[in-house]
Amino acid sequence: MPTENKVPAFDLIGKRYDESFVERDVQIAEAAWLIDQLPPGSRVLDLGCGSGLPTAKQLVDAGMDVVGVDESQTMLDLAAAQAPGATYLHADLRELGELGEFDAVVAFFALLMLSKADIERNLRDIRALLRGPGLLLVSMVQGDFDTFPVNFLGSPTTVSAYPPSQLRTVVADAGFEVLALREFEAEAEPGRIEVQLYLRGAKS
Ligand SMILES: C[S@@+](CC[C@H](N)C(=O)[O-])C[C@H]1O[C@@H](n2cnc3c(N)ncnc32)[C@H](O)[C@@H]1O
Repeated sequence: MPTENKVPAFDLIGKRYDESFVERDVQIAEAAWLIDQLPPGSRVLDLGCGSGLPTAKQLVDAGMDVVGVDESQTMLDLAAAQAPGATYLHADLRELGELGEFDAVVAFFALLMLSKADIERNLRDIRALLRGPGLLLVSMVQGDFDTFPVNFLGSPTTVSAYPPSQLRTVVADAGFEVLALREFEAEAEPGRIEVQLYLRGAKS
């Protein structure tokens, strides 16, 4: 269960997230790449799975055995309705202890809600859960700040961000080969364009 005694930001954001962040083409293409690498039935962990759209649904529809983790029960309820067929766990992604092994881990716009120290620790924990080819997909926003307070869709939260070269180093230092790291501009909420980083990795 989540450890901090506060309302998770996404309990307040809920369905407005899907309605506001509609530019998902790159995220869908990244998950399609992952699906191409894995046999059906592969075990995939979706960290900070949110509402289940688009990624958990895409993975389930491709025959993957999906576990979604999120600290927001509101988002997990949406995921269970919109992307049935996965196992959803109400948990803090900083405490991955008893989840077992996975063939791949995806974390789309989730690690950025942690501090840099937690991101770096979490990447090592993710590495320890991986078996076989041990694939990793991560998306972040580009920048250089740690636990920066922001107001996202009217809800106070924090964001951490790395410049691309630092993100590459942080992921490599956690025990991954970085297979690709690309930058794209997207509208993450109405009227706000941000540069997003998409990283593909494999355990080294
Ligand atoms: C920006 S949303 C991204 C959701 C989804 N991955 C997507 O691509 O649409 C971030 C998600 O991470 C979750 N989250 C943030 N911090 C978390 C934590 N420490 N433990 C578990 N989930 C967390 C939030 O509740 C939210 O659902």
